[in-house]
Amino acid sequence: MLSGTVRGLVADGLRTAVAARGEAALRALVRSTAHPARTLALATDYTDTRGFRSALERARDELGPFRTVVLWIRTPSRDTALPVVADVLAAGAVVVDIRGSAAAAPGRARPLPPPDLAGCDHRPVVLGFADGPDGTRWLTHQEIADGVLAAARAPAPAATTTDDGPGRVIGRVRPWHDRP
Ligand SMILES: NC(=O)c1ccc[n+]([C@@H]2O[C@H](COP(=O)([O-])OP(=O)(O)OC[C@H]3O[C@@H](n4cnc5c(N)ncnc54)[C@H](OP(=O)(O)O)[C@@H]3O)[C@@H](O)[C@H]2O)c1
Repeated sequence: MLSGTVRGLVADGLRTAVAARGEAALRALVRSTAHPARTLALATDYTDTRGFRSALERARDELGPFRTVVLWIRTPSRDTALPVVADVLAAGAVVVDIRGSAAAAPGRARPLPPPDLAGCDHRPVVLGFADGPDGTRWLTHQEIADGVLAAARAPAPAATTTDDGPGRVIGRVRPWHDRP
């Protein structure tokens, strides 16, 4: 889903670390970037807090504190994983925090930035839906990757307060009953 985002950040010249559990897919992703030798694959599971911390600290030691981070972490693991991420960030780091469309459900309170990420340039991004020839559809991987990249590249804090809920929305989330 975010391979295109990784390739975009690497193409921008950022020394990049990419974390996921599957080593073979990670290696293939690194090979597909413009600068494989400058891109670090971190085979790690964010539900294993100790292992995740050790992987991120290894990356921080090699690349320096992270200045731009893209997070796609499922809700049940955020409470344990976000503090680990927070500990390897540079001051004022850009943190693009991807949330599923449920984050923008009607009546859902606009979430506050996670306390662990206080002091960061926290940029929530909600995955919405798009219009297709036969009605609405979920976003393609390319649309998600491009939208996330745009949020990461935006020069100033990208979050916008709108009726659509928290932060930037890729596609749309209103009206809610239009969901595929
Ligand atoms: N709104 C939309 O249009 C839209 C479109 C697409 C997807 N989505 C949302 O995305 C969800 C599924 O997307 P997906 O299949 O790409 O996502 P996913 O299963 O969450 O995986 C996304 C990435 O995260 C990694 N990952 C997953 N769990 C991990 C863990 N515990 N530790 C480290 N890395 C982990 C995966 O690699 P590994 O498996 O190798 O770890 C993969 O690279 C759907 O449920 C949907 O809510 C929404």
